[in-house]
Amino acid sequence: MYKILDINLEWIEKLILEIQKSTFSMINNPPFLFYKNSKGEMRLTINSNLNIEQLGKTFNIINSGIILSQITPECLKIDDFISFQITNPLLWTYPQLRIDCDANKSFSAPWHKDGWILGENLKGIVVWLPVSADGGSLQLLENTNDLECKVIKNNYWGLEADFKDQDLNPYLKNVHVKYGQALVFDENLLHQSFPIREGQLTLQLRYFNLHENNFYRPAVQKITEPVIEFQKLLSE
Ligand SMILES: [Fe+2]
Repeated sequence: MYKILDINLEWIEKLILEIQKSTFSMINNPPFLFYKNSKGEMRLTINSNLNIEQLGKTFNIINSGIILSQITPECLKIDDFISFQITNPLLWTYPQLRIDCDANKSFSAPWHKDGWILGENLKGIVVWLPVSADGGSLQLLENTNDLECKVIKNNYWGLEADFKDQDLNPYLKNVHVKYGQALVFDENLLHQSFPIREGQLTLQLRYFNLHENNFYRPAVQKITEPVIEFQKLLSE
């Protein structure tokens, strides 16, 4: 299952302002370029000259943000759709920002299902949305029942789908998600990184369906992660 939904941008714009502040010290070679559109709204694009060292530093800075840890389906106004899919959504991984650009294209994700990192028989939902102004793209495979898919080891990603030399074109869909939209998909969708062109900054939120009598948090999270801190505050 996948669907593209329109989102409320209020929190994404707060996130962009947070990213602008937190990367300000990298002024000599900024990872992102910021500008205001005709309505005075702040927008962000990726600096195409980013090298791998700056990329690592940027990745750590932007993934430690407080706004990032506070974004929920309610903030994006897609909570009705999420709770229609899963009745008791609980964070499965903490909110993550991913940068895809020329400098890290060798780390692009191979064909995989996010469900492979979720417990067996658990239902999950991924919210994938562009933060950069030009939107973001992802490749996915639809109606793959008659495709033969072998799961093999991948040294960086853990696992990947191997289709040998089967023709994937009849199943392949290139999905472009505009700024202001989110791609929402379930744990079972086969997808991979889209070959990089402009560079994209995307946000991923993952939830799984909590069952009574089966409490289990699939992703390991460090206690210092901002999202844990935020959730501790909420529970007080
Ligand atoms: Fe994925």
